[in-house]
Formats: sequence, structure tokens, C-alpha cells
Amino acid sequence: MKPIRGRFEKDAAEVVKEYTLSLPYDKHLYRQDIAGSIAHTRMMARQNIISEKDAELIIMGLVSIRREIEQGTFPFRPELEDIHMNIEARLTERIGEVAGKLHTGRSRNDQIAVDMRLFIKETTSETVNKLRSLQRALVGLAEREQDVIMPGYTHLQRAQPILLAHHLLAYFEMLERDIARFHNCFRCADVLPLGSGALAGVTYPIDRYFLAQELGFSSISQNSLDAVSDRDFVVEYIADASMAMMHLSRMAEELILWSSSEFGFIEIDDSYATGSSIMPQKKNPDVAELARGKTGRVYGNLMGILTVMKGLPLAYNRDLQEDKEGLFDTIDTLHSTIEAFTGMVATLKINSERTIEAVGKGYLTATDIADYLVGKGLPFREAYDVVARLVRYASSQQKELSQLTLEEYQSFSPLFGQDVYVITAESSIEARDVIGGTAFRQVAMQIARVKKIIERDTHDGD
Ligand code: ARG
Repeated sequence: MKPIRGRFEKDAAEVVKEYTLSLPYDKHLYRQDIAGSIAHTRMMARQNIISEKDAELIIMGLVSIRREIEQGTFPFRPELEDIHMNIEARLTERIGEVAGKLHTGRSRNDQIAVDMRLFIKETTSETVNKLRSLQRALVGLAEREQDVIMPGYTHLQRAQPILLAHHLLAYFEMLERDIARFHNCFRCADVLPLGSGALAGVTYPIDRYFLAQELGFSSISQNSLDAVSDRDFVVEYIADASMAMMHLSRMAEELILWSSSEFGFIEIDDSYATGSSIMPQKKNPDVAELARGKTGRVYGNLMGILTVMKGLPLAYNRDLQEDKEGLFDTIDTLHSTIEAFTGMVATLKINSERTIEAVGKGYLTATDIADYLVGKGLPFREAYDVVARLVRYASSQQKELSQLTLEEYQSFSPLFGQDVYVITAESSIEARDVIGGTAFRQVAMQIARVKKIIERDTHDGD
């Protein structure tokens, strides 16, 4: 079998063959392509478009080709352009000219659309599972280190004491939203385009509902022009991946900061860190840095696919072939990043002496002291002023608030009593006892809640 040259008198120029070639990357779609062909063949036999006997032969041939590809013995031929033509040509070699009946009532345009949708559906499920593993690692660490107190930041300035577990669970929430987005991406892809033909539908009495059932699609497309040219689900995947990478990149930034000597809050396990080729003392957070960097490439892929799509007239255009490399690269990048983070988080060592030391410096309980004065009857704005002056004074004396004498306190307001010393980082945390707050009790409840979410979803997936 030759590449399709139908009406042409001349063979394509070498450079054109090279230029249009998609086999090196679309061969990853062989499983989906063969599944689509088998379903199509079964449907044609049921509808008496081809005979049962021919269908059996074709299906047997396709199954043996799948085996060849999986065993690495399939003779890939780049001159046949893409995975579709490679499989069809091989089928002809194996079962003879009956193979020519496979492409009845089908076009490569609806064929690639179905391949891509099947692929995205499988991939989103994998992505969700990986995100769940990372969530599990985060929750595991939060649970193990439930008592660790650290500074919470705004503007990267120490603001109020919080629980490390509370901080870790913030990432759980981000990943939870990512998972919801990938579930939605799955739904976008879950529509059968097969039966749209090249663009306008097909002339054979096909049964599209049967095809949907065979291939596990929950609905069928209602417009053939849209069906062969829609790649919204690819854009959706890369957009969702961009958002997830953005979250991972934020986490990366914190891991990098926290593992610096300046912070010293964490130590990344040796197996997730790297050394320097010249400075023997160094332990570098390269995994986190690479994740931060790779996020840029995934954003680039999103811009890429959006730009590919923006000027396309209906229906199929060859530009659509450019949907693959950016998608595959995005998937590899996202999956490997999540996997590396899962291990890195699971093995993270927390240096709670350093986090608590940091909480003790920088007047983190100032808000609590203002709240204390409010409790004694002072309006909040006045209380705020008193504590602002108090902090300025303490800072000029190079003292922390806990080191001030009662006399010093009272020189700022007579409302201060001995009970002001009850205010500590722990009491500050304990006081934030609202849903979503950092109080020990609240965080323990959140840990219990999110563990249920993970468990429930793990069972759903089985
Ligand atoms: N390689 C093409 C793609 O990825 C497959 C469809 C080709 N169709 C065509 N009419 N040239 O989109």
C-alpha cells in the first residue's frame, strides 16, 4: 500500500513527506485507533454494510496488529504518514484486500477525532488519580505534623501564627479544584464524533448509538462539521493542566524558600534533592525549581493550541494535526511533576524548632492583643492604635511583646492586665475557631473531611 496519492500524477516531494508526517507522535494513539476501528467494523456487520465473515477477519487482523505494536515487532513506515495509514496498510498485508472495507463510511477526520477523545478520556482519569496521590501525601504530612506552628504570611511578611497543617491543606483545596476541572474535561471529551465522515455525515445506514456504546461514550455529536473540527477538549485539558501546574509552581516556590537557610523550615529528602558540581556543601531543590520552570512550557502549550484554533474555518483543516505534540508534552510534564511532588512531600522533613522560633519573632500576636483590648471594651480602631504604638516601642527596645513588663503594657493602656500574658502563638491559633480557620480543632476536622473525600473518590475509581 502506498500513501494516498489518488488523483495525483506525481509522488509528493521529500520535504513534503517529512513536513506532513505525524507518525512519530500519533503512533501513541494506536490503542484508541484500533479500538475505534474494531467498533466501526462490528457496527458495519450489524448493519449489514459488510458481512460477518469480513468483519471477523478485519477484527482478528486488528487484534494481531495491536499485539505486534505492543511487542515492538510492528513495522512502522514513516512514508505512510500517520498511524491510521500504517495500521490499514499492515491490515492489508495480513488479511488481504478485505482490509479495504474497514474505511467504509469513515474518514480520517472523524477517526482522529474519536482517537483523541478516547485518549483524553483515559488520560484525565490518570491525571485525577495522580492528583489524588499528591493530595494523600499532603494530608499524610499534615496529619503527622498536626502540632507544628509556623508563621502565616501576607506580603511574605510574618503575619499571624498558623498551623503548618492548615497551610498544607490550602494546597489540598487547590488540587481539589483541579480535579473538578479535569472531571469536566472528561465530560467535554465524552461525546462520540464517529459517523461524521469527512465533514457532512456518511451515506451508509450506520448506528452511531451502537458505536457510542461500544466505545464507552455517553452521548453522540449532533453536528458533523463541529464534530470533526472541535478540539475544545484538548484546549480544556491543557488549560486545566496549566492551572494545576500553576498550583504546583506556587508550592514549588514555597518549598524552595522554606528549604533555604534563611527560612530553614524544611529539609527536602536527599532522594528528592540534588547537589552542586562545584560547591560540595550544597543541597539544591532542583525538582521544585524545575517544576516552576516547566510551568512556563505548559503555559506555552496552552497559547499554542489556542492560537492553532483561532483562525480555522469549518470544518477539518490540517492545522488540527498540531493539537498533539503540545498535548503529549503537557501530559508528560504534568504527570511527572505530580509524581515527583508526591514523593517529595511524602518524605519532607519539618524543622519545627525553626518554625516556632520564627513565630516568636515579629509580633505575630499583635492582632490578638488588639482583640484582647476589644474584649475589654475598646473600639477596634483604638485598640489597633494602642498596639501599633506598643509594637513600635517594643521594637525600639528590641524586645518581643511577651518580654514587656505589665508596667510597660499599662503605660499604653490601663486596660492591660496580667491576663495579657495568656496570649501566645497557641492561644492565637486556638482563637481562630471558625470553619476554614487555623484552630487545632478546625484543622483536625478538615483533615478528617478531606480524608473522606480522597477515600470516596478512590472507591469510585475502582
Ligand atoms: N493526521 C491528521 C490529524 O492529526 C489525521 C487526519 C488527516 N486527515 C486529512 N484529511 N488529512 O489531524
